[in-house]
Amino acid sequence: MKNLDAFYRLTGLSRQSLILADLFADQPDRGQLFCIKSPYLMLDFSKQRVTSDILNHLEKLAQQAELPYWREQLFTGAVVNPSENRAALHTALRAPANQQSADLACVEEQLQRMDRLVTRIQSGVWRGYSGKRITDVVNLGVGGSDLGPLMVTHALREHAEPQARALRVHFASTIDGSQLFDLLEHLSPETTLFIISSKSFTTIDTLSNANTVRSWLSSHCNDEQRVLRCHFIGVSATTEKMDAWGLPPENQLAFWQWVGGRFSLWSTIGLPIALALGMSVFRQLLSGAHAMDEHFRHAPMLQNLPVMLALLGVWNVNFLDIRAHAILPYDGRLKYFPSYLEQLEMESNGKSVDRAGQPIDHATCPVLWGEIGANAQHAFYQLLHQGTQPVASDFILAARRYDNARHYAHYAELQAQHQLNIANCLAQSRVLALGNAAVEPTDNPFRHYPGNQPSSTLLLDSLEPQSLGALIAAYEHKVFTQAVIWGINPFDQWGVELGKQVALQLQPLLISSLEESEVLLDSSTLQLARYIQEQQS
Ligand code: F6P
Repeated sequence: MKNLDAFYRLTGLSRQSLILADLFADQPDRGQLFCIKSPYLMLDFSKQRVTSDILNHLEKLAQQAELPYWREQLFTGAVVNPSENRAALHTALRAPANQQSADLACVEEQLQRMDRLVTRIQSGVWRGYSGKRITDVVNLGVGGSDLGPLMVTHALREHAEPQARALRVHFASTIDGSQLFDLLEHLSPETTLFIISSKSFTTIDTLSNANTVRSWLSSHCNDEQRVLRCHFIGVSATTEKMDAWGLPPENQLAFWQWVGGRFSLWSTIGLPIALALGMSVFRQLLSGAHAMDEHFRHAPMLQNLPVMLALLGVWNVNFLDIRAHAILPYDGRLKYFPSYLEQLEMESNGKSVDRAGQPIDHATCPVLWGEIGANAQHAFYQLLHQGTQPVASDFILAARRYDNARHYAHYAELQAQHQLNIANCLAQSRVLALGNAAVEPTDNPFRHYPGNQPSSTLLLDSLEPQSLGALIAAYEHKVFTQAVIWGINPFDQWGVELGKQVALQLQPLLISSLEESEVLLDSSTLQLARYIQEQQS
């Protein structure tokens, strides 16, 4: 990004010269020109405010940032996370076993251990403390140890294998215990298994939930070793901490420090996915991601889907100054996809120092948020269409839906709903791009749609394990590519540490005399703490 100014001069463009309605009028085959096909996905980016010339300059920017070099560093296990001195080998988690290097044999070994555990639980060999089979599984985890498995499990529920359907899989992440409170009221301690998912096994959110559950189980069964053996599985990169918590070694699954938390759903962190959907569905997810890895590694830059997503993002943020990015899946099954991407993109690229820790002088990750598109139409699209904020959007849509439901009595009605959904998706990106020009101009200021809000549409042939794997991997590589161009490290997250430290400092103060506290609190925090104490007394 050092040459950003030169880049602006080279393009010789002003923001005002990029009007989507004009670009479409001037270039009738724009849709076909600005489109990339990759395994399982198609990206139409013709509604982005770019020209072929701009794309060529963006490609040069990626070359100047040495994207091909960094990409090889990523895939070959070099230290691409210098502040933590770690590789980031999530791509190795989904490489076929026969292509794995000998030092990564541990990946397949852990997958096979996971497979055996899944089989024992789903087949009823694994029993609760009183001898009953497990009916419910609760994943206790937060961030990367929650969002990926939650999102995938929800998205692919229709693809669950028969033996997986009998298990109900739940997720509890919140530190306040709200989700657990709801769950524990309805679940039976005899038939519920808990997965403690935590890369570090120190995250207080997860451990406080785990401790509450442990006490709940102990109040029903006083044989603690039995409770630990029959009701907990730990998944972590820190085996010693699982040992210290009391988890028997046979109830532990491992992964490694070189797997970033938000890139970890492909590892044993995916256990809830395998339990809810079946191990072969999990393997298909991995194979779809691997197909995208190969595409990212080998496709030329301007035909490379993740690279293009990244270049468009850089263009929007750094040239068009668009600092908001909406993720709009037109598919109820992708309900949790926006939250998943919020962590993936903002925790990775919400940085303001370069790899060496030097301040940078350009913008990085935009604010990213989203919602199921058709629902968001009735919530925040008003701002997209007529607000004062430029926003770039990703529309995500599956072309085919209800393939497996042809026998269903209301198949025709559901198909009609799917068509309605598609029409809405296409209509929204069209209106955002063209404004009133999509239909007819008007003098009515309340009905004026300026358009020119850029968007991309990601079309999946259909939402299946492989295509979802490819979609997620495409965004992972987008994030990596942007980090390379911005010169930052996407694999650390130092920005979340100070808040944890201050919370630890505040926790004891809340139950002590604030007046005698040695910690000098600001007047706002002090006032809030006092008020809370008064309410609680
Ligand atoms: O606090 C942020 C974070 O470290 C995320 O990066 C991570 O996904 C999440 O917390 C959970 O961490 P762990 O898996 O170690 O419990």
